[in-house]
Amino acid sequence: MSQVLIIDFGAQYSELIARRVRELGFSAELISPHTPLSRMKEAQALILSGGPSSVYAKGAPRVPREVFEQGIPMLGICYGQQLMCHLMGGKVKRMKQREYGPSEMRTIKPSPLCVGIPKHSRVWMSHGDAVVRLPKGTQSYGVTPHSPYAVVGDAGKRIWGVQFHPEVVHTKDGKRILENFLMTIAGLKKDWSMPSFIKNAVNKIQDQIGEGHAIAALSGGVDSAVATALVHRAIGRRLSAIFVNHGLLRLGEETQVAHAMRTILHINLRAINASVLFLKKLKKVIEPEQKRMIIGHTFIEVFQREAKKFTPQPRYLVQGTLYPDVIESALAKSGNLASKIKTHHNVGGLPAKMNLKLVEPLRMLFKDEVREVGRLLGLPQSVVMRQPFPGPGLAVRIIGEVTAVRVAVLKAADAIVREELDPLAQTHKLWQYYAAYLPEVQSVGVQGDERTYAHPIIVRAVTSEDAMTADWARIPGDVLAKISTRITNEVPGVNRVLYDLTSKPPGTIEWE
Ligand code: XMP
Repeated sequence: MSQVLIIDFGAQYSELIARRVRELGFSAELISPHTPLSRMKEAQALILSGGPSSVYAKGAPRVPREVFEQGIPMLGICYGQQLMCHLMGGKVKRMKQREYGPSEMRTIKPSPLCVGIPKHSRVWMSHGDAVVRLPKGTQSYGVTPHSPYAVVGDAGKRIWGVQFHPEVVHTKDGKRILENFLMTIAGLKKDWSMPSFIKNAVNKIQDQIGEGHAIAALSGGVDSAVATALVHRAIGRRLSAIFVNHGLLRLGEETQVAHAMRTILHINLRAINASVLFLKKLKKVIEPEQKRMIIGHTFIEVFQREAKKFTPQPRYLVQGTLYPDVIESALAKSGNLASKIKTHHNVGGLPAKMNLKLVEPLRMLFKDEVREVGRLLGLPQSVVMRQPFPGPGLAVRIIGEVTAVRVAVLKAADAIVREELDPLAQTHKLWQYYAAYLPEVQSVGVQGDERTYAHPIIVRAVTSEDAMTADWARIPGDVLAKISTRITNEVPGVNRVLYDLTSKPPGTIEWE
């Protein structure tokens, strides 16, 4: 399969580039600028993404200069273009005024990059620096009113750059530009599709694991279920799975996951109900990061204990890590460590503790693509269409101490929210919708002619592309009214329902 590698310099649009490339029918993978040159050299085409830095800034992410000397077709976008010109001997300068928004690009010379594009075309700009002198051998092929170097290239070296963002829909002919680069300039064939991804991933997993044994840690979420199904396709019965049920899942989930794994995929699954242990450890804990830490550690403890019971001992651990997880966990975003907002509990501490090697077949995918893989592997809708759900589960949706009674209240309220919003999920493009619980807040109400002094439930529904940013969903008032009536009628101890009108930022999707 053709290898398009996208070097991610930290632009908000980097993942969008990968998505566009795949939509066009090519395999695409995001890599960090710190990836070894040997790996970059494997690419049949390299795209350098945009990024927030200035090429002259201290610590600005870079790639080795040698990468431009390998004969690999390259396309630099925004910061990528500036870095490319800078490292190849051109000059970049801060502009007097940042250019942000739509602009008109005019082609001034025919180029393979702009074949089929009208002479005047709308493009989307977002930059504060700009190239002011081109490297030797590089020419300008397109301009905008503020940018004499909107499209540049060294045709002989097959190295091209654009100042604008071809990956965003506001750049009218952006997809054509990417297609021209990949097909005409790099000479790649369209060979990416989900079935081809699965075939390739299966081969890669077989290569990695060989005759070894692997173990999967199931959390109840889509990602771990799909990763498990994929590895199972590759190594069959040499994969076992442990499902640690921490008791903080949504209503009914524990049975759905176990059922799908056992009866549909026939995976050897050990399901452990550890809810009592988790609740014990969470006693009196209020601070969100502490909750995450305790849940993470307890998960590892239970998993480790159970994994010892398998023979032969597995040497590989399957994880459903997606690219956005890597970023959000603040592991690395282009050399500038993204500020740590929340610790994401997956099974982070496991491989080191147990001397396990990681198998992460979904690392390059987006959530909707993971769902598609799951569907193709035969997982049922109830598992595949599950909303993203935090590893620490309902614990981070109970604001305050987590107790069995509180979990039960939240589960009941959350089930109502899901039931009422499920039919709107598609039409309103809902990313997540759930209930959170404020058991330590009390307010006065009246129910059945009696005064109550009870707790509020928060309804949260958001739209989002990738969970990095989100907006609160515009749910019709009558649907909210029904949710409110149902929760106050059906869930004991709740006398008020609030709808959360906060986007991310400044809020986050979860309450904790
Ligand atoms: P926030 O609340 O940070 O959430 O806007 C972004 C996305 O990540 C999910 N999330 C988590 N996932 N472990 C996870 O595996 C966690 O600790 C965690 N916290 C948040 C959240 O549901 C949303 O989709």
